[in-house]
Amino acid sequence: MSETKRRAARRAVEYVEDGMVLGLGTGSTTRYAVEEIGRLVKEGYRLVGVPTSLETERQARSLGIPISTLEEVKHLDLTIDGADEVDPKFQLIKGLGGALLREKIVAYHSRQEIIIVDSSKIVEKLGVRTPLPVEVTPFSHGRTMEAMEGLGCTAALRGGATPFVTDNGNYIYDCKFSGIDNARRLETELDSIPGVVESGLFLGLASRVVIGTEEGVEVRERRDQDC
Ligand code: A5P
Repeated sequence: MSETKRRAARRAVEYVEDGMVLGLGTGSTTRYAVEEIGRLVKEGYRLVGVPTSLETERQARSLGIPISTLEEVKHLDLTIDGADEVDPKFQLIKGLGGALLREKIVAYHSRQEIIIVDSSKIVEKLGVRTPLPVEVTPFSHGRTMEAMEGLGCTAALRGGATPFVTDNGNYIYDCKFSGIDNARRLETELDSIPGVVESGLFLGLASRVVIGTEEGVEVRERRDQDC
């Protein structure tokens, strides 16, 4: 499995050009991409990385990749990140690694978002296999959970009695639906619940998906009619 992830990561890093400002995603697949970006920096590429988590920031610093923030850089040329599910419309579920809020902000401000996955992440319909992570404020999170369950899911607090705390000081509920029929509508409904900070639905953000397979790599480019 790790070889297929590495393959996807290597292929995605071929899109990196000298002088770029890069969004650096989070997760086991992205770790390989950050390793490759570190190699480019050692070869003399002038790159700047904006990490989406403290974990990625630590890795990038250890590899000598210059780090900045969204506040400091004028733009992001390209972001490379993983995903938990990818559907045929380039819609994603992200956040099983817990970094969805920063990942989504960085993706939104990036000119291109390349998603790197192995073929196990490709699905026909979002939410059948994977729960949808939703970041919520700790304040009154139980009430927020009830409102989310009103949308037709079963919501489990990540970490249970010892809740997982995100880099932003929030909690995550993993919301299990029996498949998500209308991701746009669900995103709007979740956003309208006070206490919901962000959902792991990434819609219209991925421009390219690079899939590592046992045989090689498949690259899918999003066209306007895909989303
Ligand atoms: C992190 O919050 C997530 O969105 C990850 O990008 C996603 O979970 C993919 O991670 P892996 O590459 O480890 O599967």
